[in-house]
Amino acid sequence: MHLLKNRGYAHPLASEITPRAVYEERRTLLRQLAAGAAGGTLALWAARDARAQGARPGRLPALAASRSSVAGALTMEKLTPYADVTSYNNFYEFGTDKADPARNAGTLKPRPWTVAVDGEVKKPGNYDLDALLKLAPMEERSYRLRCVEGWSMVVPWVGYSLAELIKRVEPTGNAKYVQFVTLADKARMPGLNSSVLDWPYVEALRLDEAMHPLTMLAYGLYGETLPNQNGAPVRLVVPWKYGFKSGKSIVRIRFLENQPKTSWELAIPGEYGFYSNVNPGVDHPRWSQATERRIGEDGLFARKRPTLMFNGYEAQVGQLYAGMDLKKFY
Ligand code: MTE
Repeated sequence: MHLLKNRGYAHPLASEITPRAVYEERRTLLRQLAAGAAGGTLALWAARDARAQGARPGRLPALAASRSSVAGALTMEKLTPYADVTSYNNFYEFGTDKADPARNAGTLKPRPWTVAVDGEVKKPGNYDLDALLKLAPMEERSYRLRCVEGWSMVVPWVGYSLAELIKRVEPTGNAKYVQFVTLADKARMPGLNSSVLDWPYVEALRLDEAMHPLTMLAYGLYGETLPNQNGAPVRLVVPWKYGFKSGKSIVRIRFLENQPKTSWELAIPGEYGFYSNVNPGVDHPRWSQATERRIGEDGLFARKRPTLMFNGYEAQVGQLYAGMDLKKFY
């Protein structure tokens, strides 16, 4: 704490040598540091410093956010570089190679955009992107994202809890599941010509999972609007589940009474279940899920990390699955 105080950020000169916004952010961060949440704050600090040095990472429109106070929302781990987060992607609508989405997703038009909300809700409707952006205060959260393929990243997302939207649309007593339907536009998405999956890509959560404060609707990353390849203009992020549960480029949110099938369940039922919670004790039928490779730390001598139960969010979400056999409900 002393170290930071003595670095002189509060010195009047700082405002002259540092862009005002960055300087203001530093002051906020210093206050937060003084308040005690040092680890998470430092992780975000690193992101913000990177931004301050190279202006903004991808030069997409900025998306201002304050630091999240949701429990577990700020991992202390090092953030994955912006270049890796935006060039190593799964977005099969734009091709199955990791480099395909960054190469091909330029055709996605994230504006204008509407998300339809329907099914078992008292207030169904079509939400324009601008209305969604203003629906709740934007927060920055650094989440671990663990892909079922065995790699992981740490990404500073910008958005808010999906619960903010759910509360406003007032689910009826019949609503037990929430389904996310993503864009399927043949004219813009070359991957739709492939039959790897049934399009559109659909995912779903139980209503209580969807209401959990960690479940996030994300509109940006690294302080900027989402790049197309990461699911612009709005995607889901469910940090304790394998990455494929986090649907990209969402166009419809449906509230349902019965558990719907998801795209991966339909494609390979023996390998992908509805829950898909990160679980090092339940292997994928074709490979172990005990360890993971952190993107950006590749190389011959990079050590694999142990995968954590619920991706490290067990304290926050474990009780959602109390009494369930997680080998059966994989
Ligand atoms: N959403 C759609 N619409 N299509 C996809 O192919 N891939 C999923 C998920 N969401 C996918 C998707 C998978 S497998 C992962 S691991 C994450 O997106 C990857 O998100 P990222 O590229 O932002 O890291």
